[in-house]
Amino acid sequence: MQLKGRNAIVTGGSRGIGRSVAIALAKSGANVAVNYTSNQAAALEVVKEIEALGVGAMAVKADVSKGEEVENLVKEVLNRFGSIDILINNAGITRDNLIIRMTEQDFEEVIDTNLKGAFNCTKSVSRVMIKQKSGKIINVSSVVGVIGNAGQSNYAAAKAGLIGFTKSMAKELSKRGITVNAVAPGYIDTEMTASLPEKVREEFVNNIPLGRTGKPQDVANTILFLASEYSDYITGQVIHIDGGMVM
Ligand SMILES: NC(=O)c1ccc[n+]([C@@H]2O[C@H](COP(=O)([O-])OP(=O)(O)OC[C@H]3O[C@@H](n4cnc5c(N)ncnc54)[C@H](OP(=O)(O)O)[C@@H]3O)[C@@H](O)[C@H]2O)c1
Repeated sequence: MQLKGRNAIVTGGSRGIGRSVAIALAKSGANVAVNYTSNQAAALEVVKEIEALGVGAMAVKADVSKGEEVENLVKEVLNRFGSIDILINNAGITRDNLIIRMTEQDFEEVIDTNLKGAFNCTKSVSRVMIKQKSGKIINVSSVVGVIGNAGQSNYAAAKAGLIGFTKSMAKELSKRGITVNAVAPGYIDTEMTASLPEKVREEFVNNIPLGRTGKPQDVANTILFLASEYSDYITGQVIHIDGGMVM
């Protein structure tokens, strides 16, 4: 996969899946902007790791749920890299609860980060990509957005929304040389899933045909493909990375 000279933004690139994606893009030659919202030290660690690979990297603080902060993020990246070729809408949070206990705030925060965040970033970056007449946008959804999950109505709504958003953007931006796809990971070992009890993890594994949970690298490998020219004739698709859990 050759991404030499391409410039990428990875939202939520400071840890977990985003970190793996940022490093995978850099290993293929891309310069990478690592976005984060609270943990600057973690983002700077990723930047250091990327710079050691001989490509450009920068850490940019921005809360993706805030349109103005995203505009500044895009400006900063353009000032440093000059163009944006790849956008990975990865930043995400969970606020799990049963519907009767879920607060309006829990619902709004998850929609604002996971869904409106992707809208804000796509809106700002697509202006740049439309001028360039090229670009790759990849949204990180979830199998939960396809099949739902008890206790995650806010998250499932956001991730299902992201799939509709992906398909609409794919149709809207196709004539401008921009492809828009989504990945739907299953159970991936990151801080997000680390708090789940071992029993829940075991139950998941029992329902995964490939017999194991996923690693951030499993997701990064597919995203790398979608960010490369090997996927030039693919748009509007949702690729499951779940060991066969949902089929
Ligand atoms: N892990 C799984 O099993 C799984 C499965 C399916 C889908 N996903 C999706 O994959 C994506 C990454 O998940 P993960 O497991 O890697 O999560 P994670 O380890 O919790 O990392 C989340 C990342 O998002 C950033 N972030 C959170 N809120 C943000 C905001 N408002 N603006 C900018 N950045 C923000 C965090 O930055 P700070 O450190 O600065 O807070 C962090 O870099 C999410 O969209 C998640 O829903 C995960």
